[in-house]
Amino acid sequence: MDMLGGLTPSEFLRDYWQKKPLVIRQAFPDFQCPVSADELAGLACEEGVESRIVIENDDGKPWQLHNGPFSPDRFSSLPEQDWTLLVQGLDHWVPDIADLLEHFRFIPNWRLDDIMASFAPKGGSVGPHYDQYDVFLLQAQGHRRWTFGGHCDHTSPRVEGTPLRILSSWDGEETVTLAPGDMLYLPPGIGHHGVAEDDCITLSVGFRAPTVDDILTGFTDFLCSQSDASDHLNDPDLKIQDNPGTIQPDVVDRLETVIREKLEARRQLALWFGQFSTAPKSMDIVVPAEEPASTGDVAEAIHAGEHLAEAIRAGEQLRWNEGSRFAYYEFASETALFVDGEQFLLKGDAQPFAPLLCSGARVDMPTLARLSEDEALLGLLTTLYNQGSIYFE
Ligand code: SIN
Ligand code: CO
Repeated sequence: MDMLGGLTPSEFLRDYWQKKPLVIRQAFPDFQCPVSADELAGLACEEGVESRIVIENDDGKPWQLHNGPFSPDRFSSLPEQDWTLLVQGLDHWVPDIADLLEHFRFIPNWRLDDIMASFAPKGGSVGPHYDQYDVFLLQAQGHRRWTFGGHCDHTSPRVEGTPLRILSSWDGEETVTLAPGDMLYLPPGIGHHGVAEDDCITLSVGFRAPTVDDILTGFTDFLCSQSDASDHLNDPDLKIQDNPGTIQPDVVDRLETVIREKLEARRQLALWFGQFSTAPKSMDIVVPAEEPASTGDVAEAIHAGEHLAEAIRAGEQLRWNEGSRFAYYEFASETALFVDGEQFLLKGDAQPFAPLLCSGARVDMPTLARLSEDEALLGLLTTLYNQGSIYFE
C-alpha cells in the first residue's frame, strides 16, 4: 500500500505537513467503507456520540446546524439533498475505523484528534470553510468534489445568518473529485469545500495541536491542582511605606518569583502535557472493565494455556481501547507513561514498557510477556485493564 502516493513519511513531513495540500490517488486501494450510512445515522441517535446535521438551505436560512443525538424519524424529515450528517470520534465506536489510525503512526500519538465521518447525499456539503487542524480526508464511499486552496484566517469574509463559519467570496484554487480510497491532506488554514456527487461518506482523520490558550490555562490549572497551590504570598519583612496605596516593586518581584519558579519546572510541564494530550475526549470513551481483573487474571490471560504462543493463537492479543490515548516522556532516569490522562512513572527495568505500549494499538505480545514477569508491571497492566484503556481482542 502506498498511502502517501509514493512519498516516504519523512518526505511527506518535510514537503507537505503543515505546508501545502496533497491529493493522493488510491491511498487505500480497493477501500471498503467499514460503516454504512444507516450505521452512521444509528450512531447519531445515541447518547454520548457527538453528531451534527448541516443543512445548506433550512427553510430559507443558510447553513443551519442541528446537534444530535437525533430521533430516528429526524432522518425521514430531511430534504432530498444538500445536507450532511457528521459523526465525531468514529474511531471510538468502530474498531475497523480505529484500525485505520495505525497507518498514521508516523505522526505522534499526542497530535491525534479523532476520525470524523460525514455522510451526504448528492449536493451535500458543510460549506466552504477552513479548519485549524491538519486533516486527511479519506473518501470512503461515493464521490466528493473538493475545491481547495488559499490561506484563510479570522479576517476572511464570512456568510451572515449561520452559526457556522462559512467563507463568503472564496474561490479556491484547485478542484479534484475523489473516489473511494483517494485521500486529500490539508494543512490548517487552507480554505476547502467538498460537495457530494452521489451518496458519499468521507472520513476526516484529524490532528490537533493545543492553542496558546490551551497551554496557559491547562498548565496553570495543573499547577493549581498541586498541594502548594494554596500557599499564600508571605511578607515577614514588610516595611512602612509613604502611601498605603503603593504596590511596591518588591511585591511584583515576589509575584514574578512565584511564576518563574513554576515555569522553570520543565518536569512539571512534561507531566502536564502528557496528561493533557492523552485525556479522553469524553467520559463515555474509556469505560472501566465490567469485571475488574485481579493481577492474577491478567497474568493468566497473558500466559494463557501453557504458554504465550498459545494465548496469541487463541486470540489473546492485548490492544488499546478504541479512543484510548497513549504517550510517554523520557526523563533522565525514569519514563513517564501517559494513558487516558493518567500518569505512571516507570524506573529501571520497567522503562521499556512505555515505548512498547505506546508504539501502536496492538501490543507486541512476546515482548510484553517477557516484561510482565515483573510483578509491578503486571500491576500496572491490571490498572490499565481495569480503567478500560486496554482489552484482550
Ligand atoms: C465533510 O466531510 O463533509 C467535511 C470535512 C471537512 O471539510 O473538514
Ligand atoms: Co474542513
